[in-house]
Amino acid sequence: MKVAVIPGDGIGPEVIRAATRVLTAVSERFDCPIHLEFLDLGAERYLRTGETLPEETFRRLRDDFDAILLGALGDPRVPDNAHARDILLGLRFRLDLYVNMRPVRLLDAGHSPLKGVRPGDVDLLLVRENTEGLYAGMGGTLRAGSPHEVAIEEDVNTRHGVERIVRAAFELAKAGGRRKVTLADKANAMRYAGSLWRRIFAEVGADYPDIEREASYVDALAMDLVLRPSRYDVIVASNLFGDILSDVAAALVGGLGLAPSASFAPGGPALFEPVHGSAPDLAGTDRANPFAAILTAALLLDHAGRAAEAAAVRDAVAGCIAAGETTEDLGGSLGTEEAGARVASRLR
Ligand code: NAD
Ligand code: IPM
Ligand code: MN
Repeated sequence: MKVAVIPGDGIGPEVIRAATRVLTAVSERFDCPIHLEFLDLGAERYLRTGETLPEETFRRLRDDFDAILLGALGDPRVPDNAHARDILLGLRFRLDLYVNMRPVRLLDAGHSPLKGVRPGDVDLLLVRENTEGLYAGMGGTLRAGSPHEVAIEEDVNTRHGVERIVRAAFELAKAGGRRKVTLADKANAMRYAGSLWRRIFAEVGADYPDIEREASYVDALAMDLVLRPSRYDVIVASNLFGDILSDVAAALVGGLGLAPSASFAPGGPALFEPVHGSAPDLAGTDRANPFAAILTAALLLDHAGRAAEAAAVRDAVAGCIAAGETTEDLGGSLGTEEAGARVASRLR
């Protein structure tokens, strides 16, 4: 398995060091050769050379690797986020990685801010559209800098794009033995996009008679997710709504330090990144939780058909959590480095 590793900015390199250490432990313990190649892409390089994602590097990522493991991109020294847009959104869009899958599962009730919640009450799969919507970059400004400045950001929803993500949500539900798919939209206010999503949701959903479907408004859903998380199983949403819901859902199970993510499409390499960003407030302090990145590596193993290895990684993380071997966000006292080392040693 050939994996391109982009540690990126802020805590990215710190959590990726832990994740690659775990992948190395996996390849040693199991008969599972994993070749890692580190790529220097991110704010440092951009500030040094002006380059974001050179064409040759993009072609290599597309053609020469099975997977890309990315830490995070975002640096206060690049206030307009230009490099992150080119690299992160560039990879998602140009590789057409239309499924962004973000599983959210409560492991330890003590990590949840919810009263009286039990593990099992939160076990959902967020399926986020990853190539269009409000992220498409269509729009522009008029009269910039004047009191009459206009900023237009178009919300792009194509039948092709909506249909394939809704189908992916039902297929993932079926493959995972899940019972329900909930659509999160804003059809009461966004009538054109809302109508398209709702029609396609009903059309595609009809092909899956054993799976219950429910269309809901994203504002009410965001609240209900906090109040009654056990009602939810698979949630499918447009790019922006999926982005927001993924942080809300992560908060229910212990925060961004536990939230993994995978972006993929049939054929071609897939992209694996924790849900969290570069956390400039934690960068360089050895305080970031590496478990999100490690659980992201588990998604990578799953995607590569290595279910047993992925399960071993998840078990090792669960073992650390049960033993209180965690970073401070989960109530422990370990640093990033040590928490990663504990997971790796459980794998050996
Ligand atoms: P963030 O996810 O970096 O941080 C939000 C909060 O969560 C902060 O308080 C942070 O300390 C905490 N947090 C994040 N990861 C954590 C971890 N592993 N362990 C413990 N606590 C953690 O989001 P932000 O502050 O909105 O964004 C910072 C930068 O990251 C921005 O430039 C943003 O655009 C970028 N970003 C990048 C990605 C990505 O590359 N995939 C994702 C999200 C945000
Ligand atoms: C995420 C991030 C990105 C997104 C940002 C950094 C553009 O928040 O992966 O969730 O909105 O997709
Ligand atoms: Mn996000």
